[in-house]
Parts: sequence; C-alpha cells; structure tokens
Amino acid sequence: MRDCPPICPYLAPPRESPLDFPIGQVRRVAPGDDASREEIDETKRNVIKLLAVAGAVGAGAGGLVAGSLQYAQPPVVGISSFPKTALVDLDGSPLTASKVMSEYNVTTSELLIFYYPLRNEPNFLLNLAPPAGGSGGATNVVGGIGPQGSIVAFSAICQHLGCPAPAISYYPPGTCSKSFGSKNFYIHCSCHGSTYDVTNGAANLTGPAVLPLPQVTLYWDQSDDSISAIGETGPPVNGHFSTLTGDYSIGNTSQLTRETPVIACFFPS
Ligand code: FES
Repeated sequence: MRDCPPICPYLAPPRESPLDFPIGQVRRVAPGDDASREEIDETKRNVIKLLAVAGAVGAGAGGLVAGSLQYAQPPVVGISSFPKTALVDLDGSPLTASKVMSEYNVTTSELLIFYYPLRNEPNFLLNLAPPAGGSGGATNVVGGIGPQGSIVAFSAICQHLGCPAPAISYYPPGTCSKSFGSKNFYIHCSCHGSTYDVTNGAANLTGPAVLPLPQVTLYWDQSDDSISAIGETGPPVNGHFSTLTGDYSIGNTSQLTRETPVIACFFPS
C-alpha cells in the first residue's frame, strides 16, 4: 500500500485507506486468468483508442478549423482619431466654464466623471481654483482651461494596476495630512498608494505607479462658454493598447456623473 499525504482528495471520508494502485490506472486480470497470466492495462488501451479516433477526427476537421479561425478572432474595436465631444452637465444641459467655476472648486470632494474618448474610459473633471473669495488651490495649471486656467481632466484609471474611480479619487486640500511642498490636494489611489500632481499634468508624486495619468485635452469655446474634450496626452489609458482602442467612441456628447470618493491616506515611503 503506497503512502498518501493527509490531504489526499480521494481519501475523503468515508474512505479510510489509500488506494493500492496509482491514480488513473485501472488494472484487470483477464477472465479465467491467474497471477501468472499477463495483465491487461485497460486505461492504456482506451487511451490508444481515443487517440486514434481523435487523430482521424482532427485530420478531417483540421482544414475546417483553420479556415474558420480567422472568423474566431474578435474584431479590434476603436476609433482612428480623437473626436470633439461636448461635455454635458449633470442636469443634461451643456457644461459651461461659468457653471464649473461657480459650482466646483479645489475643495469639491465629490467626483465628477465623464467618459472620453471611448465608452470605457472614465475621466475626472476638476476645477483647481479656490472657492470664490477664498485662497489656495491653483490657477493657470498645465493643460488648464477656463477664465483662470484651472479646469482640467485626467484619466480615472490608475496607471499602476488599473484601479478605476472611485478607488482612485481626487483628494481636496487637507483630506490627508500628507502634502508635497505646498500641494495638499492631489489624485490618490487607495489600492496601493500612487499619487498624482493635478497641477502638473498628473505627474507622479508617489509610486508604485511610474507613469502619469493621461490628461484629456479640453477646449473652451469662449463664444458660447462651452467645454469640449478634443484629445488626450500622456501614456495610453491603463489596460488599453492605445487610448483609441478597446471600445466604441463615446460620440459627440458625454454627460457628467457623480461618484463618492474612496479615501485612504496611505502613502508608500
Ligand atoms: S492600482 Fe493604483 S496604486 Fe496600484
């Protein structure tokens, strides 16, 4: 009787003793036989039969499989260039810079998310300007638009291992005690602690991510105060071969949605 470790699955109760032959092999003595007669290995014989049948079927079906493989490949979904996509406010009206400046600022804690350029590519919309009459925040930041150059947008998918919003969230000033120089507001990922500088193109402030978040290029049309997304800079959206592939276009408009942030003041040293 051969040894079997205590966790052997085939020894589960009510069986109490190990099997006396190797698993997978069925042995039988031919009828009328005795111990001196040759043993027949049924498993081996059945395997040989199976291989013979499979070979015949495979040879016949090989051409068919090869011929149809090209149709089994999923088509590459994507777009060839960045669309111009008008942003739409939570209430369904066109999003204007005036609305953003009056309703949101650097202290806004709720997340404003819109998808661009593809339907599975979420982005944060931020206004880094201080509240009216207040101080702090930042104006004329990298890529900022609007009357104070403070409205920016970044991918809401972390560049480390791809945690999406709200696992990755915007942290208003003072959310955590951690600051980077005078900057105490940033995008931070609760998954493993990556931090991004929202005033400087989402450059990395802490790892483990080593790439910045892609930044959406915003366009402010001063003739009607509208805001559109027209492109994206930086690395591809995490998980996408390119920012333009991986789903269908969001189209000509993209409406904001609200999400509650997830806060975790964990910063890798
Ligand atoms: S997925 Fe964001 S830090 Fe790891």
